[in-house]
Amino acid sequence: MRVRIEPGGTVRGRTAVPGDKSIGHRWLILAATALGASELREVPPALDVRSTARCLAALVPSARDVLEGWVASPGATGNDDGFTFNKGEPRPPSPVLRIEGRGRAGLQVPDAELDCGNSGTTIRLLTGVLASSPFASVLTGDESLRVRPMGRVAEPLRGMGADLETTEGCPPIAVRGRRLRGIRYAMPVASAQVKGAVLLAGLEAEGETTVTEPSPTRDHTERALAQLGAPVWVSGEGEVGVSAFRHEGFAAVVPGDVSSAAFLVAAAALTGGELTIEGVGLNPSRTRFLAVMERMGVRTQAEVRDMELGEPVGDLHVLACEGLRGTTVDREELPLVIDEVPVLAALAAHAAGESWFVGASELRVKESNRLDGLAELLRSLGGEAAVEGDDLLLAGGGLDGGRADALGDHRMAMAMCVAATAAGSAVEIEGIEAAAVSFPGFTETLRALGARIGG
Ligand code: S3P
Repeated sequence: MRVRIEPGGTVRGRTAVPGDKSIGHRWLILAATALGASELREVPPALDVRSTARCLAALVPSARDVLEGWVASPGATGNDDGFTFNKGEPRPPSPVLRIEGRGRAGLQVPDAELDCGNSGTTIRLLTGVLASSPFASVLTGDESLRVRPMGRVAEPLRGMGADLETTEGCPPIAVRGRRLRGIRYAMPVASAQVKGAVLLAGLEAEGETTVTEPSPTRDHTERALAQLGAPVWVSGEGEVGVSAFRHEGFAAVVPGDVSSAAFLVAAAALTGGELTIEGVGLNPSRTRFLAVMERMGVRTQAEVRDMELGEPVGDLHVLACEGLRGTTVDREELPLVIDEVPVLAALAAHAAGESWFVGASELRVKESNRLDGLAELLRSLGGEAAVEGDDLLLAGGGLDGGRADALGDHRMAMAMCVAATAAGSAVEIEGIEAAAVSFPGFTETLRALGARIGG
């Protein structure tokens, strides 16, 4: 599917975004493995989260009907899905998911391979869950997922006693659950998915499990576990620990996805609009991109209004953009903006002066090779961009227009749309349907806010 974006629109007003993908995966897994009933609201219709729900439906008989029904509900495909949040309109009500769990012991042998679709979070977190289940299962996914590295999750789980077989370090992963023992694991790469998988395995392990991060990553797993009463501890040395715990059901409303909001923030900044995004997650381990944007000249304000299962939630205002300037994201900061590099690069392409994203090799193993892909796509729109070693360098100065392919990657698709809003002439983006992986209704939302987007 192709979209054409004409310059000249202004992105402004009030809106909301679909629920947070990272949080959605975790709370669904926690609900389906709880002892008792949970009620989840605003579970994002993102295709990735549907992948988690589909796998859980195959593993949890007591939640099967509810999860299967939700997976098949509107919004499962493309962008034409009724999840558009129009300017000034309240967030549409989402169905309440009532999930009945029977604890980890209630997981059942799946009938077939577990298809994790495009979702790295699904496959890595579920591998952590299945590592202690006393049966064999196989986790796999689409073409893009099947070339992504899984050794990083297999290694610590094997260290805990699980029997795991990857396919040359990639999916499919064959898991045969075992009785696990705790581990002290120093992660060689900063990955919230690996940390989450090891902590979820640690809930069923004998003794303490601790993970040390080389630099901080999103902390949704530990926040949720702490709220559910699990013995979780966090030390200033980048260490997170947990010991065995069985949690009960819970009720929570998934906050809006701040990584989805980032695309709208950038579009407002590039087109000179004021914008408010309501009900969005404001966890500091996810909002570092706002500090990067601030350095570039984008003024925003975040107002925390509520807490949901340990997650701060509130409104995000885009106040003004006072002339965009380039910036440097160094290797310490990079893991905290890992999902926002595409949208930050879209902004940087229009900034005055150079921008650097340093030590960005992890971008090569995302849904596409985002490091080389970003340089290529921005060049195809008339920008100046290069990859030097593991660094991405953007010269800034604006984009002309033209054609770009989303490379089957949701964040690349949305970043190119955002970049297009301020290009010198029209931009056509091929493969925009990928946006539904995290943000169903993205183009409709952007159009409703004032961007000039046509089919
Ligand atoms: C995620 C962690 C990050 C991120 C991904 C979601 C998560 O991946 O890029 O979109 O929900 O834990 P890594 O853990 O591979 O860095």
